[in-house]
Amino acid sequence: MDIGKTIKVRRNDPCPCGSGLKYKRCCLTSKHGLDLKTLYFERFRIRLKEPGAIEGIRKTARLVLETLDLVETRIRAGMAAEEINSLVHEFTLRNGAIPAPLHYHGFPKSVCVSVNEVVCHGIPGNRVLEEGDIVNVDVTTILNGYYADAGKTFLVGSVGAEGQKIVRVARESLRIGLATVRPGNTIGDIGAAIQGYAEREGCSVVREFTGHGVGFAFHEAPQIPHFGKKGEGIVLVPGMVFTVEPMINLGKKEIVILDDEWTVVTKDGSLSAQFEQTVLVTETGYESLTPFDL
Ligand code: MF3
Ligand code: CO
Ligand code: CO
Repeated sequence: MDIGKTIKVRRNDPCPCGSGLKYKRCCLTSKHGLDLKTLYFERFRIRLKEPGAIEGIRKTARLVLETLDLVETRIRAGMAAEEINSLVHEFTLRNGAIPAPLHYHGFPKSVCVSVNEVVCHGIPGNRVLEEGDIVNVDVTTILNGYYADAGKTFLVGSVGAEGQKIVRVARESLRIGLATVRPGNTIGDIGAAIQGYAEREGCSVVREFTGHGVGFAFHEAPQIPHFGKKGEGIVLVPGMVFTVEPMINLGKKEIVILDDEWTVVTKDGSLSAQFEQTVLVTETGYESLTPFDL
């Protein structure tokens, strides 16, 4: 997805609802919750989620986590990526849900499996996983119409120092990005924290793909870039549900899309890793709907 323009609202700016109060004294602290809902939709196309919807997304999110747990118990050297697809596909259907990737803009499989230099959107096929591979599995599920999206990068057997480093930095990038999620902070704060950390570690942040609103659809507004400047971008408010999913490369940030029109690889062939969770902005911070240890 391309990075769209965003409108800036800072804590001390006049409230966008037009009350004349500072934003932090007005819609940010709710009371005008409904106004904020209309405002965020009209200005940013962001659909804030109310408790009923949150419950629905939470149920889907639980299933996504269970799916990742299942993959974690089964993944091993000698297995074809296609077998991870079957596992995810069948487990999802057995639980009354739909794998969101299947036929999404023509994607041919039910899960993304991205090995080593594959950044994201890997199509699980006959590639056999080998000892020492790092394998991202990205699961998105639809249950009762509600979407949730999460992923992890798994280590296959014993992994070399480079693989261990990029997986550690990618995991930590998500942890550090999520730590900035609270009402009054901005989308730019998330990206700035991730970029600052990852680049200090000598790694790079992929620019072309971002986190995204999720819940009523696979990819909703807003985009959540994993790079940026502190204080820039849309102000976070309670009821926002989005993913954070930094793709971190061991080498340079540039990517290439293969002829299959999906598989994204690092241009320099270096390793890439990614962790993703779906989170809800609460009154005081955030709640991960797909919590796993980071
Ligand atoms: N799950 C990916 C994301 O985190 C999107 C995959 S799109 C697909 O946004 F079509 F490749 F499945
Ligand atoms: Co995903
Ligand atoms: Co996502």
